[in-house]
Amino acid sequence: MAGEQNNIDDLLLENRKFPPPVDFQKNALVAGTFLYDEARADDEGFWARQAAELLHWDTDWHTICEWNLPYAKWFVGGQLNVSFNCLDRHVLAGRGDKVAIHWEGEPGDTRTITYAQLLDETKKFANVLKSLGVAKGDRVNIYLPMVPEAAVAMLACARIGAAHSVVFGGFSSQALADRINDASAKVLITADGGYRRGEVFALKPAADEALANTPTIEHVVVVKRGGNDVNMVDGRDHWYHDLMAEASLDCPAEPMDSEQLLFLLYTSGTTGKPKGIMHTTGGYLTHVTYTHKYVFDLHPESDVYWCTADVGWITGHSYIVYGPLSNGATQVIYEGVPNFPGNDRLWSIVEKYGVTIFYTAPTAIRTFMKWGDQEPAKHDMSSLRLLGSVGEPINPEAWMWYRDTIGRGTCPVVDTWWQTETGGIMISPLPGATTLKPGSATFPLPGITAEVVDESGARIDHGGGYLTLTRPWPGMLRGIWGDPERYKETYWSRYGDRYFAGDGAKLDADGYLWLLGRVDDVMNVSGHRISTTEVESALVSHPAVAEAAVVGANDATTGQAIIAYVTLRGGSSVDEGDLRNHVAKEIGAIAKPKTIYFTPELPKTRSGKIMRRLLRDVAEGRNLGDTTTLADASVVNELQKRAAEAPSED
Ligand code: WTA
Repeated sequence: MAGEQNNIDDLLLENRKFPPPVDFQKNALVAGTFLYDEARADDEGFWARQAAELLHWDTDWHTICEWNLPYAKWFVGGQLNVSFNCLDRHVLAGRGDKVAIHWEGEPGDTRTITYAQLLDETKKFANVLKSLGVAKGDRVNIYLPMVPEAAVAMLACARIGAAHSVVFGGFSSQALADRINDASAKVLITADGGYRRGEVFALKPAADEALANTPTIEHVVVVKRGGNDVNMVDGRDHWYHDLMAEASLDCPAEPMDSEQLLFLLYTSGTTGKPKGIMHTTGGYLTHVTYTHKYVFDLHPESDVYWCTADVGWITGHSYIVYGPLSNGATQVIYEGVPNFPGNDRLWSIVEKYGVTIFYTAPTAIRTFMKWGDQEPAKHDMSSLRLLGSVGEPINPEAWMWYRDTIGRGTCPVVDTWWQTETGGIMISPLPGATTLKPGSATFPLPGITAEVVDESGARIDHGGGYLTLTRPWPGMLRGIWGDPERYKETYWSRYGDRYFAGDGAKLDADGYLWLLGRVDDVMNVSGHRISTTEVESALVSHPAVAEAAVVGANDATTGQAIIAYVTLRGGSSVDEGDLRNHVAKEIGAIAKPKTIYFTPELPKTRSGKIMRRLLRDVAEGRNLGDTTTLADASVVNELQKRAAEAPSED
């Protein structure tokens, strides 16, 4: 009976279809299949047309795509400057007074920044970087709260050809130090602190801790935001505002090679060490400009766009900084948490700025659902016309709630699948052209080819399997910093000449794609990828801990929750809260386990491998499958008993 009900539910969900609303379609940039047709006939020619139409090039390319598996180069021989494309060209076209950023601080203070002002700041900061010895090809680390200076710093690096490596401000000093050292960065840009939940959080002390172990850093630039007291080291540390007061406004944008390294962004892998994902200039900017324009049906003259991501993640890079600014959009950037001072903060911002396009993550949507319909109901959100989702699979109820309650039942919802590695959106509806199904990312965008394969690598047309990408695309990663072997091994070894994304996916009878989550040992917590190994390493780094196994268990709010099983060293004891905080200190608060179970033994195979699959079953309250390879079955029985009893922490 229960099974039957599930079936009916599934069928119902799959049957709900939402064609583009007629009103939306009337003004949509794409309302038919022409882009798909063009790209299918000649994908390289299609991308070349996008690159030429959407960007300003100082030198034309001679080759659209050079593909030597697994390495791609795009628009080879071409030259352009990313900051020129994001700033100068809009000012030169007479749009200098257009608002680039409506910035809203958490306490309620605001800044309105036009394209002309953003260009001036960027030029000055580019000169600051030069004065600190940063040159083309160098790496610069950025560790900032959500302040406009984050965008300025990134654009200034791009202007002079230095690669930035942004580290999310919520990461710990250890995570920062590891990333600085992996990239051998020369300069760190940070802040005294920022605002979060109504209070100032200090950032500089964490940076200072990292700086004790980062020999390559020569200078530190500190943005004043929190107003908290900080320690400034003479000769090394400089206030942003002091340096800017002296900086010249004269800084022409130098044309960069299309394959010049634009940035590194670190992402978790299945082994402990984070991977420095490499993105370059011409292909990346083409990809993010194109997708930002067409997926969000951007009308820069009238839209007010808002992406709630943090600039420390790829979504912030591609869809706060580079895509929107390259397209000359007006956008909102908000500094703080969604529930300060009340649970309606985001909706008050939508109303205040007349936001028309809103892009957020399923974990946030589920949280808004929990907070209740009365919160959005307090505000006039009739300006909204399009909603987007990114970061993890969106369950159909959340999709429906988003469309109905935030989007008044009329806004299309674009569920966008992509990764740090892909640079930009890969699978998504085009809102004026695609009939939507709640919970499906629908189809690969024009120019992208994705296929689902079975375990043996054979392509399947229907049912579940593994998501692969079959052709190079302009925004694809160019490698892992300093580790070409790992690049090949991680993405290009499992299914021959296909890029393996690490995600499961299924195709339904209409050919719609449904993403099924990670197939490896990477957890997806609130849309952020965290590797089980990294959290285990952090736990084991505590002196009381002998061994740890970490799994991601389904969680209604955060997608997956981190559940840890810990064995203590003989004679040691530690409080669960202290251990959770230890992980936060080692990796960052985002990686704190939701629950830690202390156990005298971990379930292991006879060869000594921890059986994470069993632990996941235990954590999710499932009946255990095959336990025959288990060395000692009583261990699991005990854990099951405790899982049933234990209430979990926040
Ligand atoms: C997951 C974030 C389902 C997926 C842009 C992917 C998604 C990982 C979706 C990348 C989506 C992202 N539906 N799953 N719309 N978007 N994912 O690198 O598992 O932080 O591999 O990039 O998030 O996470 P990353």
